[in-house]
Amino acid sequence: MRRFVSVVVVAVTSGLEIPVVSRRTGISYLPSSAVSRAKAGNKIEKTKLAKDPTNAWSDLHAYAAAIRSGELSIEEVEAGDANIRLKWAGLLSRFKKTPGKFMMRLRTPNGIVCAKTLRAYADAIEPHGGVMDITTRQNVQLRRLPLEAAADLVRELHSNHNATSFQSAMDNVRNVVGSPLGEHDLVDTRPFCNALNDLVSLNPETGERGNPRWGNLPRKFNIAVSGGRDDFAHARINDIGLEPVPRGDEMGFNVVVGGYFSIKRVASAVDLDLWIPADVNVVLDLCSAILEIFRDEGARGDRQKARLMWLVEEYGIPAFRARVLEKAEGLPHDAAQRWEDDYGSRRELLGIHPTHVGVHVPVGRLSVDEMRLLADLADDHSNGELRLTVEQNVLFPNVKSPDALVRRLTDRLAVDPGHIKGHTVSCTGAQFCPLAIIETKHLAERVSARLDDLVSTDRPVRIHYTGCPNSCGQVQLADIGLMGAPARRLDPISGKTKAVPGVNVYLGGDVGESFTLVTEPVLKGIPIDDEDDLVDKLADLVVEHFQGVRRHH
Ligand SMILES: *[C@@H]1O[C@H](CO)[C@@H](O)[C@H](O)[C@H]1NC(C)=O
Ligand code: SF4
Repeated sequence: MRRFVSVVVVAVTSGLEIPVVSRRTGISYLPSSAVSRAKAGNKIEKTKLAKDPTNAWSDLHAYAAAIRSGELSIEEVEAGDANIRLKWAGLLSRFKKTPGKFMMRLRTPNGIVCAKTLRAYADAIEPHGGVMDITTRQNVQLRRLPLEAAADLVRELHSNHNATSFQSAMDNVRNVVGSPLGEHDLVDTRPFCNALNDLVSLNPETGERGNPRWGNLPRKFNIAVSGGRDDFAHARINDIGLEPVPRGDEMGFNVVVGGYFSIKRVASAVDLDLWIPADVNVVLDLCSAILEIFRDEGARGDRQKARLMWLVEEYGIPAFRARVLEKAEGLPHDAAQRWEDDYGSRRELLGIHPTHVGVHVPVGRLSVDEMRLLADLADDHSNGELRLTVEQNVLFPNVKSPDALVRRLTDRLAVDPGHIKGHTVSCTGAQFCPLAIIETKHLAERVSARLDDLVSTDRPVRIHYTGCPNSCGQVQLADIGLMGAPARRLDPISGKTKAVPGVNVYLGGDVGESFTLVTEPVLKGIPIDDEDDLVDKLADLVVEHFQGVRRHH
């Protein structure tokens, strides 16, 4: 097989002519100490050293051309490229569940998608039977894409949509999360998210998507800019979270760092006791400084310990704060500011509001037809704009005739879905995810619909499903969280137990100002093979812990 080295980003017309470019690699930014740690580091570090993963930005197109010309088949794509480096272009191989196909993760800063771009996504997945998922980082994932179709979509996004999939997976800065209320929240997070998105994914020298400066981080990195006290961005589960709070008359952000979810540990971000003014350049300077410290000093051994929190703990909070301020020389700042009053409960995003119409998307899953419907509604009612939420729903901002919009919605996409169904979140699960222990999305959608029929509540009950301990479904911050786990059921005939799909149950997480992560399950190994049984158990939990009342039919 031909070797793919650094190549130009333009179309590769003749299969074999692949000129070399002189773009800087991700590795070229690392100090020698970090390179030494990478050399002694984990398998991923070695893969990144063997060939710079930022090559994926052009290799993607070279591979697509070679596959189209028949020179290469998808099975022959070098494994390190197929399963690791192509993630720098936003392509995640899902060969185990969908042979030869990829999941493509986009970048959707502040969760904002244009109708035109949503249609481009639908057009790309339609021929392959794909679906779209809205993620808990208010982002887009497209399912079942062949490599060639993904390469075409990248070209289309870069040329005509000001959008990209680059640096959306593996050791990169992930989608920058903001408040979907945008201009209607305390702080309009959109300019911050856009500037951060460009910082991490745009090459300042060439103007092209893909920034090699952040092309070799020790691990993934999450940034969220919260727009108000409801914290619709979930700042505290991010490596950098910015929480708006004024100092006197001046609006600014308290900086929290080190939040993350993983198999071995979930951590709520810690307060750096640092306040900065809400100024885009100040935020960029702060985030660049922290990213540089992480890139250059972060652990590259055990990947479980390569997240920012471990570096913060190694320094200690005051010393880490000092290091950040030393790196971001001259950064305007103060000690953390505090609100004097309690905020109360979070506002509801779903439904008809003066600022927007919030539409429920069950478990964030959209068919091609539903994507096109949402795009049409956005064109007709919200200036062609949609905003995704971390609860996997969509908002149409600034709608003049909400009733006209609502009339065109389907049964599945509703503005008043019910307190349980409307607040159900689910990770991908076994349908597409190679790591899943259980199927989640279809189960969650069915179970939550039945729960609303069975119990009434006077407040939302947030039930989260996650297929494995990676907790992409963030069960630790849910009211009720279900995490895929081994379970056993007694067979009454044989008197023996047998292995069945099951969950561990988490209870009492919270978001907003009373943010709480629950680290231990209250119940373990609950079987889910009998869905009636599961619905009944969950109804009991809703009655017992969330003032639910059983309906009598
Ligand atoms: C393109 O998107 C970026 C965010 O990635 C934003 O900062 C920029 O303003 C957008 N440009 C245009 C022309 O819309
Ligand atoms: S939580 Fe596990 S099963 Fe669900 S998407 Fe993440 S890795 Fe896959």
